[in-house]
Amino acid sequence: MRAVFNVFSGTGNTHKICHAIMDEWCKRGVECKYVSIEKDCEVRNPNEFDRIVIGYPVHAFNAPQPVFDFIKRLPECKGERLVYLVKTSGEPLKFNDGSCAHVYDLLRKKGYKVAGEYHYVMPYNMIFRHSDGMAARMWQAAERRIPFEAKDMLDGKVTPLKKGPFKRFVSFIFRIEHPAMHLVGRAFKATDACIGCGKCARGCPQKNITMAGGKPVFGKNCIGCVKCSFSCPEDAIKIGVLNGWRVNGSYKFDGVPAKDDEVCRYCRRSYIKYFREAEKYPLPQEADKQ
Ligand SMILES: Cc1cc2nc3c(=O)[nH]c(=O)nc-3n(C[C@H](O)[C@H](O)[C@H](O)COP(=O)(O)O)c2cc1C
Ligand code: SF4
Ligand code: SF4
Repeated sequence: MRAVFNVFSGTGNTHKICHAIMDEWCKRGVECKYVSIEKDCEVRNPNEFDRIVIGYPVHAFNAPQPVFDFIKRLPECKGERLVYLVKTSGEPLKFNDGSCAHVYDLLRKKGYKVAGEYHYVMPYNMIFRHSDGMAARMWQAAERRIPFEAKDMLDGKVTPLKKGPFKRFVSFIFRIEHPAMHLVGRAFKATDACIGCGKCARGCPQKNITMAGGKPVFGKNCIGCVKCSFSCPEDAIKIGVLNGWRVNGSYKFDGVPAKDDEVCRYCRRSYIKYFREAEKYPLPQEADKQ
């Protein structure tokens, strides 16, 4: 069996999840290719693969613009190809569900069968910083689910997508984020703390940053993935009107998972419900002993 992962990830959460799914598939002898969706990235012909994964973080209850653009570049589907969507988001709210709607429509128009979606909650890269304990608990939840869900996808399990009319409407309205981010991104600026290392320019998936006089200059193609400001070693990038929501620096996923009473107050009930669902699956080390 052959599989291709086409994944957009700004700050690494979606890559982390998709790599873990890919590792499971490789262990089961699947030949996997991994494409990081970036401006002008290669498009592997999905017709050469039995399983196709499209991975992305939820941005304003939608998929990010590069995911739409990438799907538009895919050739028409020939034969029966199963596509699975793998999404990450910072909160487990149902509003995020509709983010699959337009992705689904674009794929279906080209003849692809979207067989299911898998949604993993990962720490916020914007709005506020989760504690490392929360990040560890989110990762533990993913580690419990991934071996089972990776197997389901290989077995060709078909589950309906959560894209009812209300969720579809919410995601449609918030698609305004795409053109808005082009404008907002023009106001990104490096502060005097910038040391001119160029990491932001090298990493931008939209190739939207150029270095001039040792400082980054931001163009008009920003899609708000926040990779530049999140990964700046000096926390030197101000993200315009969104600056109050800036989060800088990687999370530590291998620490002690937050206990229930340490779960952040924001959406606490939804997070606990999400964790409880995942805790129905054993931890990988427990599953190995069984
Ligand atoms: C512009 C932007 C919009 C976002 N919108 C949402 C959202 O609507 N719902 C949500 O739960 N998380 C939202 N997030 C948080 C991300 O979905 C979450 O942190 C994700 O795991 C990041 O994945 P990545 O590291 O692969 O980019 C948003 C993040 C950004 C940068
Ligand atoms: S990553 Fe930060 S320090 Fe490095 S060039 Fe960009 S803004 Fe400056
Ligand atoms: S400028 Fe920053 S936020 Fe905008 S696309 Fe590039 S890395 Fe992402």
